[in-house]
Amino acid sequence: MTEGLVTVSYLGAIILFILALGGLSNQETARRGNLYGIIGMALALLATIWGAVDGNYGLLLGGLAAGAAIGFLLARRVQMTQMPELVAILHSLVGLAAVLVGLSTFLDPSHAEHLTGAEQSIHLVEIYLGVLIGAVTFSGSIIAFCKLSGKLSGKPLTLPARHWLNLVLLILAILLGALFVKQGADGGGLTPLLLMTVIALLFGIHMVLAIGGADMPVVVSMLNSYSGWAAAATGFMLGNDLLIVVGALVGSSGAILSHIMCKAMNRKFFSVIAGGFGNGGGKSVSTATGEAGEVIAISPAETASLLSSAKEVMIIPGYGMAVAQAQHTVNEVVKHLRGKGINVRFGIHPVAGRMPGHMNVLLAEAKVPYDIVFEMDEINADFPKIDVSVVIGANDIVNPSAQEDADSPIAGMPVLEVWKGKTTIVLKRGMAAGYAGVDNPLFYKDNTRMLFGDARETLDAVLKELG
Ligand code: TAP
Repeated sequence: MTEGLVTVSYLGAIILFILALGGLSNQETARRGNLYGIIGMALALLATIWGAVDGNYGLLLGGLAAGAAIGFLLARRVQMTQMPELVAILHSLVGLAAVLVGLSTFLDPSHAEHLTGAEQSIHLVEIYLGVLIGAVTFSGSIIAFCKLSGKLSGKPLTLPARHWLNLVLLILAILLGALFVKQGADGGGLTPLLLMTVIALLFGIHMVLAIGGADMPVVVSMLNSYSGWAAAATGFMLGNDLLIVVGALVGSSGAILSHIMCKAMNRKFFSVIAGGFGNGGGKSVSTATGEAGEVIAISPAETASLLSSAKEVMIIPGYGMAVAQAQHTVNEVVKHLRGKGINVRFGIHPVAGRMPGHMNVLLAEAKVPYDIVFEMDEINADFPKIDVSVVIGANDIVNPSAQEDADSPIAGMPVLEVWKGKTTIVLKRGMAAGYAGVDNPLFYKDNTRMLFGDARETLDAVLKELG
């Protein structure tokens, strides 16, 4: 393949990746977006294998086959509820790749033999930054994986003087960088590079450990962004334009997503990164609102009758719907109610579930019509007009203490104001707290009814009652 053909293929792949991102921003075009991404990636791989690589084909194809097999098995086995963990662990691989490419580029001087002066310094800075970002992404993503999969507690680790510790690590990384560029020009530099790698790994661990449960959505999107910048840095090291552009696309879209997540939780990006908030401690409801008391249970038959006599129904899905895999039954219930002329809508909180767009993906899978699925901002003012709100396995995103209790770990986070409707029915198995570990005064309100049990089973029972 000629160099011109490789460049054209890379350009085509870049356009396809941009179309993929555009497509993924909307449920109706998401499938098409995915398809563009798949074609773009296939084109990029083919152009790289046939055009940019000039040897070691056995090793390359062996690596590709092993990677494809592992990816295929993981994708088949992973449950929808484990997707965030999978995404986190995949980010760690991008970080690891950046570290390994950086180290091998440095150890193989043939890459940069022709470089002198400023060009050589720039190349060394590229290697240093690539390894730095890669190592932070690698260790941070592994900790995020452990937190999201429950292998580590969601509580923030707040070491005394942790900000000073971070500052010291940052200053050390800068000083080692200067030493690396100086020594690298004379053919040395391995020691500062390795020392910085260890520091960056520690920094990644410390940074994510310090971030509390409720702030994890931002961590996931932030590590997504870092993995993009790590890929872009690898592109600079290898002189590969495609990798630079794709890395920048992932890096900037991850940064935009982090911004959206912060807005959704009314948090400032730097306070999230500084950590220590969102601890999973939990508070008693009585201190939160003075409303601690009895909950009122409801049966599937009573739920069906309330729903049948409603005119306006709002469904609020949360993480428990994903756990119960209740989306198909939800769709059946919705079809039934709409068949009776009841106006049914869905209200989606931006951080419902465990990953951005989690609920939208599940509802799309169950073929819920897109035009009845609304963002929180679009429907939050409508609750006073709602006859029945059905909260399916959601907790933190409908917690009034976010508005009523300034000391709550989720204070200030915008929530769906279901309690303003006539009746709220909450489907969950027991009285367990949500991801942020805080109690929820909603369950004790006079107009709330609890339908206890696995959401799919209780909804099946409701469906039977609806006839
Ligand atoms: P949560 O607050 O985590 O509440 C989920 C509720 O579902 C639990 O209280 C649980 O109660 C119930 N549940 C679990 N399995 C169930 C089942 N089989 N049937 C019925 N109910 C079940 O979820 P949410 O309201 O969606 O809020 C999301 C939380 O996750 C937020 O705190 C958010 O910050 C955090 N988070 C979000 C993301 C993203 S990007 N979306 C990423 C990481 C963290 P029982 O055990 O009593 O049934």
